[in-house]
Amino acid sequence: MLKLGVNIDHVATIREARYRGLGHGEPCPVAAALAAEAAGAHGITAHLREDRRHIQDRDVWALREKIKTRLNLEMANAPEIISIALKLKPDIVCIVPERRLEVTTEGGLDVVAAEKSLAETRKKMNDAGIEVSFFIAPDEDQIAASARVGAQFIELHTGKFAEDFHDAAKREKELRRLVAGARQAHVLGLKVNAGHGLNLENLPALFAVPHLVELNVGHSLVSRAVLVGMDAAVREMLAVMQTYRHP
Ligand code: PXP
Repeated sequence: MLKLGVNIDHVATIREARYRGLGHGEPCPVAAALAAEAAGAHGITAHLREDRRHIQDRDVWALREKIKTRLNLEMANAPEIISIALKLKPDIVCIVPERRLEVTTEGGLDVVAAEKSLAETRKKMNDAGIEVSFFIAPDEDQIAASARVGAQFIELHTGKFAEDFHDAAKREKELRRLVAGARQAHVLGLKVNAGHGLNLENLPALFAVPHLVELNVGHSLVSRAVLVGMDAAVREMLAVMQTYRHP
């Protein structure tokens, strides 16, 4: 079955809007993670950004201690965060690009440009028993480089697909790129996750993409949880995900 990783960054975004710098406050991202797990989520994802704009260090340690599923730490390929990850020991890290001014993770990681340093990080993580994923656009060169570097997973960036969703021609073009990328990755021995901008409306179209192992969903789930609660939000998404048949 296609797995769901619930990204709880935006629970922390709401907390930080009121309690920034205070070391406490509501809503609690760990409580949200536990509610997501109880509803059937297969993993929890959190992005410890260098600027700590949402998730804080104490959150990732509490998540590591409390959650029972897999912890996926999204992170920049930056020395401070690498050293935290090696101590924290999440089950998997997803290396993402980070630019201070972006609202969320915008483009994919440039694996080609940073091949040497990513190879070093990949090895450090694997040596510590942590799997490695690269968050990349469905680009042939980036996928080939991810395989060369030895990542276990790629996470295909679905942001453009989500953005273009209401324009049929553009959406189909991006879907074709995602399908080709997933096939290429599979042939190269990479496992394929996907994420960014996914919601109940655009998920069924995404299911044209083969070989998907896990989807990482944040904003739409947290948004929905504000209205119906995390339990209902996760169950609704899992119900749609059950229709995924590997094409
Ligand atoms: N995957 C990665 C690598 C991300 O950086 C993000 C955004 O934090 C997501 C998935 C989730 O995106 P969204 O919040 O749009 O569902």
